[in-house]
Amino acid sequence: MAEIFENPPQIDAGYEPLGAAELVDHDGRSVRLKAGSTIVEVSALAPDLFRVGAFPDGSTPRYDSEAIAKQEWEPVKVSMERSHKEITLSTSAATAHVSLDPLRVSFADASGRSLAADDEELGMGFSRRPDADVFTQPLGPSPRLYKRREEGERYFGCGERTSGLEKTGSYQIFWNVDPPLGHTAAFNNLYTSIPFSFSMTSGRAHGLLFDNPGRVEFDLALEDEGRAYYGAEGANLVYYVFCGPTPWAVLDRYTELTGRTPMPPLWSLGNQQCRYSYIDEDEVREVARGFRERDIPCDVIYLDIHYMDGYRVFTWNEERFPEPEKLMSELREEGFRIVTIVDPGVKVDENYPVYTEGRERDLFCKTGAGEEYHNAVWPGICAFPDFANAETREWWGANHSALLDVGVAGIWCDMNEPSLFIPKQSTMPGDVVHPGGDDPKFHAQIHNAYGSLMARSVREGLLKLRPDERPFVITRAGYAGLQRHAMQWTGDNSSWWEHLWMSMPQLQNLGLSGVAWAGVDVGGFWGDANGELLARWAEFGAFQPFCRNHTAIGTRRQEPWAFGEPYESAYREMMKLRQRLLPYLYSLFDECHRTGAPILRPLLFEYPEDETTYTADDEFLLGDALLVAPITRPGTEHRHVYLPRGCWFHYWTGERFDGPAHILAHAPLGQPPLYVKANTAVPMAPDMAHTGEGTWDPLTLLLYPTAGADESVLYEDAGDGFDYEDGEYARRTVSCEEAAGSVTVRISERLGSFVPQRQELRLELRGFGSAPESVEVNGEGADSSYDEETGTVIVSLGETESVITVEIVR
Ligand code: GLC
Repeated sequence: MAEIFENPPQIDAGYEPLGAAELVDHDGRSVRLKAGSTIVEVSALAPDLFRVGAFPDGSTPRYDSEAIAKQEWEPVKVSMERSHKEITLSTSAATAHVSLDPLRVSFADASGRSLAADDEELGMGFSRRPDADVFTQPLGPSPRLYKRREEGERYFGCGERTSGLEKTGSYQIFWNVDPPLGHTAAFNNLYTSIPFSFSMTSGRAHGLLFDNPGRVEFDLALEDEGRAYYGAEGANLVYYVFCGPTPWAVLDRYTELTGRTPMPPLWSLGNQQCRYSYIDEDEVREVARGFRERDIPCDVIYLDIHYMDGYRVFTWNEERFPEPEKLMSELREEGFRIVTIVDPGVKVDENYPVYTEGRERDLFCKTGAGEEYHNAVWPGICAFPDFANAETREWWGANHSALLDVGVAGIWCDMNEPSLFIPKQSTMPGDVVHPGGDDPKFHAQIHNAYGSLMARSVREGLLKLRPDERPFVITRAGYAGLQRHAMQWTGDNSSWWEHLWMSMPQLQNLGLSGVAWAGVDVGGFWGDANGELLARWAEFGAFQPFCRNHTAIGTRRQEPWAFGEPYESAYREMMKLRQRLLPYLYSLFDECHRTGAPILRPLLFEYPEDETTYTADDEFLLGDALLVAPITRPGTEHRHVYLPRGCWFHYWTGERFDGPAHILAHAPLGQPPLYVKANTAVPMAPDMAHTGEGTWDPLTLLLYPTAGADESVLYEDAGDGFDYEDGEYARRTVSCEEAAGSVTVRISERLGSFVPQRQELRLELRGFGSAPESVEVNGEGADSSYDEETGTVIVSLGETESVITVEIVR
């Protein structure tokens, strides 16, 4: 049962910090020490990344973990210095200081700034809690880590949370649950756990990943407390420090360690529609028709649990969905794909081959007494796959042929905390056993990884079943590193204005925790939406990396047209805008895939030196060119917006603002406050009903030139498949500079061998008070026009692979 929490005391009676240590061994990147019976290892994995491991039973260090994608690191140049008091490991970018008596570890970046320093008094160690309950005792001593809070240090990240962006002074519990309706600040932990704190200290960033897939708690100190706490139940102590100093550097290294977001299939960035449940084939067809008849772009419709036969996974309900293959191929003609839900619970049923095969092959979780572990979920009494076992993962993945063979395009992993019905909304008891593999484990030891392991099995299965297609896997539960298996949606929010607001800090912190491909249910899941809430939510949702409208059984209809006008039109315009922004969004996915940079990002990611951005959690950046500040209150057309340094143009009116500035924005329905950064090209597609309707032709580069210079990147590839990994992509840099009334736009040569199928690339330059004096392309007269009413210059460039230079004199 999810709990209403009270902050437990930081220091429990059984805690013993590690004392004096002596060096026992070292190699090119690591030192190994002994403190009592505990072996401690400090290693430089990369110039700005250190790992610390403490093993209380004196065993050889081991770092295998579901969080970690990269175990083998290239050699790194480390210089080691030793005195009888201290050992230092220095790289080109950072230093680890290891003081020996008592053992304390601290770090510094290249500027000498101290970060993630052990608290002098408490350091790191283990608790042998006298009050530990009967179950936690066999898990062994519990790791604890106390870090000094540096002056001015502020905490963010921590994955999927409730409340605001900044987590300073908060207590964070990492234990995946299916929380009761509400997701208010009274409930701490939700469906995924990413025990990663992201710190900003006077403009400089660092991060700490406390790698433990069991129950973890952080106390992210208030200023006067002076120290932060990181602890878990019974395990070795393993943590990683990312020295930054920029937010970019932290995320780049963090996602190198835990894995990068894969390139999505382009169709999965289109608008998506869901309901628990579209009950039969007729209803699915009707919803699809609704989108096309009303000219609202849509790419995906979801089938929730009612498509199955008695909720048995990998089956079809023959009454409601008699001809799924026909349904899906017809919908495909109309440009729709179908994604189906799959839950982990397998109905205990002698006549159901998925169950009997799993049982015969011994692939389910067990009780301590060696019986199959059973609990209830939608299908009634179920067994639960042991996803920690590689054989189970392979078997589960292969079972998806029942869905893919008839045309399902993607898989939605739900209830994978796992969520159980006895008692209501509980999760698996800690003493359930994952028997698989060579290394049986109690559930408590890997609980938070269960959802990630399920998603991993699905991604790997889909890759085997359709090796030429990019898998689309959506998950509710997971652990650090989940981004390499699946995208995440944030579960059962409510149709409340408060949850529309909370979507922003929630997605921003997920982005700071490596999960860039994420989204909340547009319109809210529980409860009834209304027209205004739904339309305002679409004004936010259109800018999410993942945009899906979803609502619960028994609630009011929530399709974009459910509340009539003016809401339907506002929703339509937002989805059209999303569709047009796909070249920009797709380019951001490429950037994220290569560097881990969040797609929907907090302002602090781009403007770390500006501390006003640290609390700006009701607005966000999409990439670096667009700033969005949605309306999150009913009956409101105005709101405060903070614009960071630089020059910003209001997308709807063209008004110019010079940041840093606090402004009052006017936002009538259908026009959320949206600002475009000067000189940064936003590539846009033509209007389309779905992503497959046509190519991006013409492709428009929207620009607001002003004195100064900036640049951006346009990325294109086939939109699916893996040829891009062999160089079949097209990446071009677009720079824009204005000096003395003369605007120069340069489009670089294409990197990569992909040739976009189009006739026309064009520039749309806004903010011209009068027709330009001259427009030249590569030194010659250009095909251009000027629209007086909107102050826009359009320049047609044809499509060429070589460098294009456009000169415009105002
Ligand atoms: C869970 C999911 C929700 C889904 C429902 C029925 O509550 O979070 O999205 O609609 O189960 O499957």
